[in-house]
Amino acid sequence: MTTPHLAEVEQVRALAIRLAREAGAVQRRRYETALQISSKSRAIDLVTEVDRACEQLIVETLRRERPGDDILAEEGGAHEDGGAAWRWIIDPLDGTVNFAHGYPFFCVSIGVEHAGIRTVGVVYEPLRDELFDAMRGGGARRNGEAIRVSTAATVQRALLATGFAYDVHDSPVDNLDLLTRAVKAAGGVRRDGSAAIDLCYVACGRFEGYWELKLHAWDVAAGILIVEEAGGRTSDLAGGPVPADGREILASNGILHDDLLRLLRG
Ligand code: IPD
Ligand code: CA
Ligand code: CA
Repeated sequence: MTTPHLAEVEQVRALAIRLAREAGAVQRRRYETALQISSKSRAIDLVTEVDRACEQLIVETLRRERPGDDILAEEGGAHEDGGAAWRWIIDPLDGTVNFAHGYPFFCVSIGVEHAGIRTVGVVYEPLRDELFDAMRGGGARRNGEAIRVSTAATVQRALLATGFAYDVHDSPVDNLDLLTRAVKAAGGVRRDGSAAIDLCYVACGRFEGYWELKLHAWDVAAGILIVEEAGGRTSDLAGGPVPADGREILASNGILHDDLLRLLRG
């Protein structure tokens, strides 16, 4: 498949931004209102009516405006792999547990691939009205201004972030040994509950690094491109490419990447 024309990439980016803002507006309106909340894979794996409403809004618009594209959306509204050139990977509400508790840290994440290559990424945090976006080869931005990763060069000064999968109560692969090593070595470690925002905060220099296990494609599809276009590095915990299903990721400012790989591997 050939490289897409810049004009088409720009169109895809503009649509992703519009959709992220529209879904974000729904989240802002429904924040701290009474919600219907249910569980998915585990009791702690929540979904609200707002996750579903945001997904429906995004998927229906895409089906109308870009009927030929493939869509992968977390809540099951679309799961297509029809061999289309463009594929939209959507987390309609990343940070659902936060949203359900009224904790102000959640977003919409939309990543778009062309011929399997991450080409556009948009993450919108509605309460802060912060929109992160990136285009392959075109840099990364926050609210339209170019962003870069931090230049901190020691783990001791680094602020890191991580998260835990919903099987943390019953799986032995629970990320706790990695957390212990990071807490003992880093300047600080946060667990804020939205993988997509964590990645954007690496991209704009708020965090020096972020790692997590057992994520999904929709958690990282936008954020990986945003980190890389901001000058950062992403990999699995062995230093190879992040698996497409997001099951293992380290994102960093690049400078600290090898040190963090060594630290997390133990
Ligand atoms: C979750 C968040 C969280 C991470 C979990 C994800 P969701 O996504 O990104 O930070 O620790 O692993 O599943 O369920 O809120 O979309
Ligand atoms: Ca998610
Ligand atoms: Ca989600």
